[in-house]
Amino acid sequence: MTVRSRDRVLVTGAASGLGLALVARLLERDCRVLATDVHAEYPDSLSALGATTPGGGSLTYRRLDVRSDEDWEAARAWVEDAWKGIDVVVNNAGVASGGRIELTTSEEWEWITEINLLGVARGCRTFVPLLKQQRSGTIVNTASAAGLVHPPRMSEYNAVKAGVVALSETLRWELEPYGVAVSVVCPSFFRTNLADSIRSADPDARASARELIDGSKRSADTVAVEVLRQLDAGKHLILPDREARIAYVAKRFVPSLYRAAMLRAARKAAVEDEARGGPRTAGAQVVR
Ligand SMILES: NC(=O)c1ccc[n+]([C@@H]2O[C@H](COP(=O)([O-])OP(=O)(O)OC[C@H]3O[C@@H](n4cnc5c(N)ncnc54)[C@H](O)[C@@H]3O)[C@@H](O)[C@H]2O)c1
Repeated sequence: MTVRSRDRVLVTGAASGLGLALVARLLERDCRVLATDVHAEYPDSLSALGATTPGGGSLTYRRLDVRSDEDWEAARAWVEDAWKGIDVVVNNAGVASGGRIELTTSEEWEWITEINLLGVARGCRTFVPLLKQQRSGTIVNTASAAGLVHPPRMSEYNAVKAGVVALSETLRWELEPYGVAVSVVCPSFFRTNLADSIRSADPDARASARELIDGSKRSADTVAVEVLRQLDAGKHLILPDREARIAYVAKRFVPSLYRAAMLRAARKAAVEDEARGGPRTAGAQVVR
């Protein structure tokens, strides 16, 4: 599918990072955009983009917490009333968590699952009846490279993002007979505010997430441009950067290389823990 002028697009998590960059690029294409996020007030980041475009594009903001069935229902009602249909649903909102498995808490698991996995499932459940009825449209789910390759010390994030990849492939087949396309976006790290969202009982998790996200050479806009380019090309699995493509290909076709890289990362972290006298299972030996 191609995202065209006047297309009606809903984006979740649109006040920051990738969501915001996608909204900016969609407005450049003169799309009609419903930007949504958790904030009650119109976010300053979106105000800066302007509400209309010369070609008839428009920007509307609504609060939509992806954990709330009521918010989803209200968004669907708004779309049916104002637009009489929808062309693209972008389930992008997300948060971060991670760390050593024994330090993670049930609260963290529940929180990230509610937003990153069930938030996407709710978006799909809400709009699929309308998309099926129309016999057209596209769902775009933001997962992560972590949904395809699973580095150590990111168990919660890896697990929910793998869930988004599985959900997206399932719906790809399920909705194809109705003319509805599904894509899943799997980027490696890029610079956004994601590290601010992290909840983790592991003291090292926030620092390492910040290092990877803030230290990336990619901007959210670079990723957004590539996402739209691959959507235009009709891709289901969108790997918008080189690192994500290399990791994915290595796991599938050079598993020995992938295994060596994962073990190297895990052992390095374990040795660092030991040197710091940090938490580890009593009596465990670190394999070097
Ligand atoms: N930045 C990266 O390195 C990276 C890599 C791979 C995947 N991703 C994914 O990209 C997506 C966008 O994240 P980002 O990096 O732009 O981060 P970000 O923090 O800049 O933006 C995320 C947005 O989601 C919103 N959000 C959080 N909880 C929400 C909720 N309950 N309901 C609605 N909105 C909510 C936030 O308010 C924020 O505006 C996420 O799904 C993230 O997991 C990010």
